Amino acid sequence: MDRKEELNTAFDIPVAERKYSEKPNLKIIKKILTISPFLLLLISILGLKLTRNLKLSSIRNINIENAYTPDHSILGHLPYNEVSKGKLVVIEPNIEVHVDMSESLLKMREHAKKDGISLVFLSGFRSINLQEKIFYSLKSIRNQNAAERARVSAPPGYSEHSTGFAIDIGDFNKRETDFEVEFENTDAFKWLKKNAAKYHFKLSFNKNNKNVDYEPWHWRYEGSIEALQVFEASNRKLKNTKDQ
Ligand code: DAL
Ligand code: ZN
Repeated sequence: MDRKEELNTAFDIPVAERKYSEKPNLKIIKKILTISPFLLLLISILGLKLTRNLKLSSIRNINIENAYTPDHSILGHLPYNEVSKGKLVVIEPNIEVHVDMSESLLKMREHAKKDGISLVFLSGFRSINLQEKIFYSLKSIRNQNAAERARVSAPPGYSEHSTGFAIDIGDFNKRETDFEVEFENTDAFKWLKKNAAKYHFKLSFNKNNKNVDYEPWHWRYEGSIEALQVFEASNRKLKNTKDQ
């Protein structure tokens, strides 16, 4: 052995070899080809089912959300912000109203007087704090549950009175009908029904309202853009539910 051969023998490291079968496994390919249409069908069905479930679950979620808060109302009352103090004016002792409606309201009373009708203002602006006392204290004293109480009084943060644009009106000659449905039989109510719209006043809770009892004494002002904005959601709701 010469030197070169010696070296080759000394470093003869076995090399890893891969053996490829020259013919592909025809049996496996045949099997795959046979079942592939079924596999495709199965994948499509599963895909369709998944998409449908995703769609349904999103619709269900929207419905649940809407079912509880379609318009953010509570027990039939829409939410209202408290008007800022700067927009309130005192029109007589204990009666404060939104400055936008004060002139129209006083004019209405004046014109009613000329027609022989004496309107009495019973309640104007009420703060959310006062509304809280009215709602919860009277609810407790009268042993009412929240839904019963909400038929006659708005929960705090949900009263039109907190906007300064609502006014409760009575008949000076029939004080026994103050805050009573019987107020609708007074001359004052009959006059209001006929004339209030001229002064931009509208009855808020009429006989068709499903959640709140009929309140012939409770009127709201819709004679300024701010007032219309405040009551836009309510008017839309009334329109949709045909409450008006
Ligand atoms: N009485 C009406 C519902 C109010 O409290 O605003
Ligand atoms: Zn009222």
